[in-house]
Amino acid sequence: MHLLLMNSGLHFATLALLCFLLSTMGGQANTELPDVLRGSYKGSFAYKTISERMPVILTKVIDLFHREKINIGNQYGDAAKEKLKQINGSLSELKSTMQRNKPLQPLAGAAADVPLWNRLLEEQWVDGEPPVWFDAPWLFVECYMYRRVREILENSGELRDYDYFGQQKRDTLEASIAAIELLGEHLLETVADPAALSGQQVKRAFSDFIGMSLWANKNDLSISAGAHVSQEASPLVQLVELNHRVLVNDSEQVFAQLRRLRDKRDVRIDIVMDNAGFELFSDLCLADLLTSLGIAQRMSLHIKAHPWYVSDTTPADVRHTLQHMQSADGKPALRRLAERWQGYLDAGTWVFEMDTFWTSPLPFSRMASEAPELYAHLQAANLIIFKGDLNYRKLLGDRNWPHSTGFCASLEGFHPAPLVALRTMKADLVSGLAPEREALTAGDPNWMVSGEWALIQLCECSDTARGGDEL
Ligand SMILES: *[C@@H]1O[C@H](CO)[C@@H](O)[C@H](O)[C@H]1NC(C)=O
Ligand SMILES: *[C@@H]1O[C@H](CO)[C@@H](O)[C@H](O)[C@H]1NC(C)=O
Ligand SMILES: [Mg+2]
Repeated sequence: MHLLLMNSGLHFATLALLCFLLSTMGGQANTELPDVLRGSYKGSFAYKTISERMPVILTKVIDLFHREKINIGNQYGDAAKEKLKQINGSLSELKSTMQRNKPLQPLAGAAADVPLWNRLLEEQWVDGEPPVWFDAPWLFVECYMYRRVREILENSGELRDYDYFGQQKRDTLEASIAAIELLGEHLLETVADPAALSGQQVKRAFSDFIGMSLWANKNDLSISAGAHVSQEASPLVQLVELNHRVLVNDSEQVFAQLRRLRDKRDVRIDIVMDNAGFELFSDLCLADLLTSLGIAQRMSLHIKAHPWYVSDTTPADVRHTLQHMQSADGKPALRRLAERWQGYLDAGTWVFEMDTFWTSPLPFSRMASEAPELYAHLQAANLIIFKGDLNYRKLLGDRNWPHSTGFCASLEGFHPAPLVALRTMKADLVSGLAPEREALTAGDPNWMVSGEWALIQLCECSDTARGGDEL
């Protein structure tokens, strides 16, 4: 890797090949990669997350079951209500092992991903010692916590499909309904007569809706731990104020990609989604724009199969959002959009898809080997949009890359198709950031984790990859 570091003119395709060759040559290459983030670095955001934010999230789930006891009894029956004691015990135990830095236990149960999780846990043993919360990779332990909560419910029988984050997600949808309506109206106006739009207007529309999809990611519930955040001011006005906080803006190259796709047939664009609520709505507006302007004939929308990182979108959230839009009295724009989107879903123009890989702790560089079918499926996309911080962490392998490392290079060979990351920054890692851009954050000590700064980063991963992808 040292050789590559000095060879700044190296073409990306060659670089990817060399990275691949090095990584197949045994241990040497790996020891040269920057370490993954871990809670063992005191003062790191990983340490703060595991010691402060994660216990709060567990406490809130415990409190929810206590508070909802009667409702759950009414809805799911007395047997389910009886199970709540056991659920409380298991959740409390999980929280206590985390806070006392005890070993991570294997998963149990019949779920399809249990063997994978237990194999990955075994991988984390070091010198005959099992992994513990504050020493194992942060990405691993954080995913593990959400997977263990899921396990506790999964194995409870009656409550296996109960979404313990559902109410919070529904509340934020409700709280942002005014902004949702404004954005929906703006979308309908924009695509009312696609043929009449000038090239400049199309570009402006993409800039607006990419910006909305990006900034809608700012307020997620795992960061605010559920404190209410609403979207009241016009979202498009907010956008203008937020624009100077986009540290990397590859929009021009993204537009060029979209222009190229316009002349192709059977284009499929994928969105690997993040949160429900205002973000899901904004993402679907972007999907609508791509569909209405005839750029994409199909959209694959990748969501989580079960509750994840508090606010992540599940199939139930999609159903709830469409129903909520349809039943919104006095909001004709939302009803119209809900009908149109349901039509796209019925026709297979849009497809929501799930894969256990998205709720695994694996970095995307391991997708080709660990989830080859998913990787092959993504290879058939013409463009993939990765939303949010967790997807970004997985793109970068959650490694502590020097910030100016090329974005493509930090993907460690993950390039199923041209891909763009839309991310507000909520974890202390980044790549592809030039020092003069980083300088803009001077004076904001929390710039990497506050969600106030953002990135629009493209990796074209083709033979025509632009310059700047060198390490
Ligand atoms: C939940 O479990 C914890 C730990 O076992 C216990 O201290 C607490 O009283 C339990 N709460 C309820 C409501 O059962
Ligand atoms: C990013 O760049 C594009 C193209 O130059 C521009 O239209 C857009 O306003 C920029 N967006 C932000 C958020 O700076
Ligand atoms: Mg999320």
